[in-house]
Amino acid sequence: MKLIVSPAPHVLSGTVAIPGDKSIGHRALLFSLLSATPVRVLGLGDGADNGRSAKAITALGGSITRDGAALVIAGTGLDGMRAPAAAIDCGNSGTTIRLLCGLLAGQRFQTTLFGDESLSKRPMRRVIEPLARMGATISGQPAAQVGGPAGSPVDALDVTPPLVIGPATAPLGAIDYVLPMASAQVKTAILLAGLFAGGATAVAEPGPSRDHSERMLAYLGAPLATSGRRTVVDTRGWNRRLAGDGFEVPGDPSSAAFLVVAALLAGAHEVRLPNICINPTRTGFLDAIAAMGGAVTQEDPRMAGPEPVADLVVRGPAPGLRATDISGDLAVRSIDELPILGVLAARAHGTTTVRNAEELRVKESDRIATTCAMLRAFGVTCEARADGFVVEGRPDRPLTAAQVNADGDHRIAMAAAVAALVADGPTTIDDADNVATSYPGFAAALTVLGGDASSEA
Ligand code: S3P
Repeated sequence: MKLIVSPAPHVLSGTVAIPGDKSIGHRALLFSLLSATPVRVLGLGDGADNGRSAKAITALGGSITRDGAALVIAGTGLDGMRAPAAAIDCGNSGTTIRLLCGLLAGQRFQTTLFGDESLSKRPMRRVIEPLARMGATISGQPAAQVGGPAGSPVDALDVTPPLVIGPATAPLGAIDYVLPMASAQVKTAILLAGLFAGGATAVAEPGPSRDHSERMLAYLGAPLATSGRRTVVDTRGWNRRLAGDGFEVPGDPSSAAFLVVAALLAGAHEVRLPNICINPTRTGFLDAIAAMGGAVTQEDPRMAGPEPVADLVVRGPAPGLRATDISGDLAVRSIDELPILGVLAARAHGTTTVRNAEELRVKESDRIATTCAMLRAFGVTCEARADGFVVEGRPDRPLTAAQVNADGDHRIAMAAAVAALVADGPTTIDDADNVATSYPGFAAALTVLGGDASSEA
């Protein structure tokens, strides 16, 4: 599928309901499988990635029914999961496969997990290693074909899907583990396995990765405590029961980021995105935008269950933006938004540098390479670095209309579509089908706001 986007004819305006947060959606589905009582989930996004987790829980014995606007998930409880009839297809979804590793590590049956071409290249040793230390048996394929040099996020010693997990022949043992990289997926896999282990399983991380699992597992009654960047799940004396009334999945800030940047680049009469998750582990992009001189207001802040939410609003003509540096904790807190922040940087005065973001190399594509290639297609000077990229801003003239290949990466496709709003003619974005993994209605939303985006087979 290709996306065709024309320059915005005027400033953007309107209200768009952003689909439910993808990370929270995966957790609402996978954690509800462990609940002893049915869990009502409101606001689950319609992206294909969440769909993969939904199918996985039904394959493992859960059921999903609709009740008005809510989905009701009848789980199996902690000890009732059943062996799936076939291998589980995780599609494009890294969160599905890595969280399932933790969920299945202690089960007494065997499961095979596989995915699409992109997922089949993604590093799994990071999750296999700690789970193996807990006593799990997980095997995968040697990553020699895709390995980079030793020390890079995926090297020749890494392991890729398909993965075969279990059967566990003995209960898992607790570990005290320091993650080598900030990864919410790996952290969550260890915490989930920890629910099936005797004793106290501890996981510490070097940076502030998203903490939805800690919030949501505690909400369901898991024996979990966090202090600083260390979380402990201690099953001693626990009744092995998780239960909760329900989860409200707030709008996905990572999807909202594309429309926020669109409104800043094209100008906005008023662009309003209601009910967006503003968990601080997710709002690094808003901090980066503020540092660049963009104004995004957070209206009506409130709690939606364990997560803080607000309406994001952009008003006013396209602001004069200045370059910034994104590194350290800020790079972790905006990791999925770095491609779209690259687009914003292309319109800012000065040179923007992104550092400490080597994890971008092992996302749905090598996002250091694909972000730079996408920006260059628009005539922007962008230099790739081992751990990030450097963008020369050119606020004085439009970007050059482009033919971009999104390389099957949803976030690269959507970032290119936003750049196209301020180009000097229509832009075509090829290999954009995977926009549907996180935001199937993206082109329609851009059009509602006054852009001109359409898709073609
Ligand atoms: C996610 C965690 C992040 C993020 C991904 C979703 C999650 O990956 O990039 O899109 O839902 O846990 P890491 O596990 O590398 O932190």
